[in-house]
Amino acid sequence: MDMQAFDFVRQLAASHYLVRALHVVADLGVADQLGDRPTASQLASRLDADADALRRVLTLLASRGVFRLDGDHIQHSNASEFLRSDHPASLRSFVRMFGQQIQWQCAGDLQHAVRTGEAVATRAFRGGLWGYFEENPTDGRIFGEAMVAKSAAQIADILAAHDFSPYRSIADIGGGHGHMLRAILARHSAATGLLFDLPAVIDEAKGAGDNSRLSFQSGDFFTTPLPQADAMLLMEVLHDWDDAHCGAILNAARLALGAAGRLLIIEIEMTEGSAPDWPKLLDIVMLTLFAARQRTNAEYARLLQANGFRVERQTSTPGGVTIIEAMVA
Ligand SMILES: C[S@@+](CC[C@H](N)C(=O)[O-])C[C@H]1O[C@@H](n2cnc3c(N)ncnc32)[C@H](O)[C@@H]1O
Repeated sequence: MDMQAFDFVRQLAASHYLVRALHVVADLGVADQLGDRPTASQLASRLDADADALRRVLTLLASRGVFRLDGDHIQHSNASEFLRSDHPASLRSFVRMFGQQIQWQCAGDLQHAVRTGEAVATRAFRGGLWGYFEENPTDGRIFGEAMVAKSAAQIADILAAHDFSPYRSIADIGGGHGHMLRAILARHSAATGLLFDLPAVIDEAKGAGDNSRLSFQSGDFFTTPLPQADAMLLMEVLHDWDDAHCGAILNAARLALGAAGRLLIIEIEMTEGSAPDWPKLLDIVMLTLFAARQRTNAEYARLLQANGFRVERQTSTPGGVTIIEAMVA
């Protein structure tokens, strides 16, 4: 018997406890408390946790490279540094977002998505994920922060790969807290930006950073006409929707852009082959939550062509993000 394969499957079968342990330590803020290399007991009293349970959870995580145990003392590993709130590329809110009740509940109902191809989030909550955030604003705020966190690794690549200097006005549709738009405006002092998102998100975004040359519009891209601009960004928005809903968003974009405007789709390209990479995992998140998908560049090109756009260029960045430039056909 291949004991290695046997053990691999056995450990995989219980890996939701490993993942849950990661969510719990991110929620508790363990990574923010390690400056003085505390013991598990010291840590537990600071965090109002049980010392024995906390030590065991940290032992499990440390065995997978998250934190290091030095005798009784807890220290950072390279991986656990990313759980610190003050890390410049902190993943704390990103981890907390994946630990939210709706994510956990939807993952638990994956079988429904596999049997039917239907979205689970809309089955679990009225209005799906976005409706859930409206009713649970604290989780919505953490989701928004998670989008900022995941973008930290993408923004420099995007700015290096695409020349935003020709645009005087840039609209970011479903732009979350405005992190991408603020980064573009900081580079291009002649440009103005307009951030479009759902009302609660726009309220959060107004307090999320420097608002110079930035204006805000709240609305629903299925019902509110989109703002006119030289360039319109859709960053990790279309992957949340099936082809029919993407068609509706692209139709609204087409009406707003007119003949001269440029549409910039920014997405993580779906990979082929069997490398155990992020897009394959994200694809199943999209399937489960929304009956949506990660798409290849060719799939995006087809989607755009089917909805009245002509693809001008596709640029892949080293971090796996692709920028697809399109104009009204
Ligand atoms: C996956 S997030 C991407 C955020 C940001 N573009 C980024 O890449 O960091 C999708 C965004 O779409 C927004 N959104 C969802 N449904 C929307 C709707 N009907 N109208 C406007 N925005 C919507 C969400 O609030 C969220 O900010």
